[in-house]
Amino acid sequence: MNSSYAYLLWCRDFAHTTAVAREDGDVVGFVTGYLRPDAPDVLMVWQVAVDASQRGRGVAGKLLGHLLDRLVPEGVRYLETTITADNTASIKLFSALARDRGTELARSELFGAELFPDAHLGEDLYRIGPFAAPGVVAGEAAAAPRPAD
Ligand SMILES: CC(C)(COP(=O)(O)OP(=O)(O)OC[C@H]1O[C@@H](n2cnc3c(N)ncnc32)[C@H](O)[C@@H]1OP(=O)(O)O)[C@@H](O)C(=O)NCCC(=O)NCCS
Repeated sequence: MNSSYAYLLWCRDFAHTTAVAREDGDVVGFVTGYLRPDAPDVLMVWQVAVDASQRGRGVAGKLLGHLLDRLVPEGVRYLETTITADNTASIKLFSALARDRGTELARSELFGAELFPDAHLGEDLYRIGPFAAPGVVAGEAAAAPRPAD
């Protein structure tokens, strides 16, 4: 019950950083995210899930791409998410995102298993970026005149 309430609050407060995929009107996938209050250029992706019948068809990749296309022009430069070491599909999904966007992916431990009160694998932090601001081409910064020392 609290879970459905949390999702209703999520839809009210984080709709701009969240997206759903529909097929024939039915929701078949979603991604929930928020901008980190202490680092508003970082989109933290909390959950991404695609209905089992639709997996392997690029739905999750399109959902994440859609969010980045919406948020990078507004100043988002990094995407973060956490993944447990056993979630191959998720690791592949975010690795493919970094590859397709031509940017870096860094992994580090965020929440070790010992921090969870229940049996839960540790959550590794995956940080992807930077994402280029629209109109900025690679090498532009290097080509710009250096400020005077
Ligand atoms: C993770 C999940 C969202 C991926 O959704 P999806 O729509 O099938 O993913 P996509 O089709 O967009 O695939 C994106 C990339 O990941 C790869 N991939 C996806 N599922 C994979 C799997 N099970 N094994 C290996 N690679 C996989 C794809 O090949 C693709 O990479 P590519 O571009 O190099 O070919 C889906 O498997 C899911 O809902 N899992 C259960 C929920 C979950 O674990 N969510 C993450 C934690 S919140």
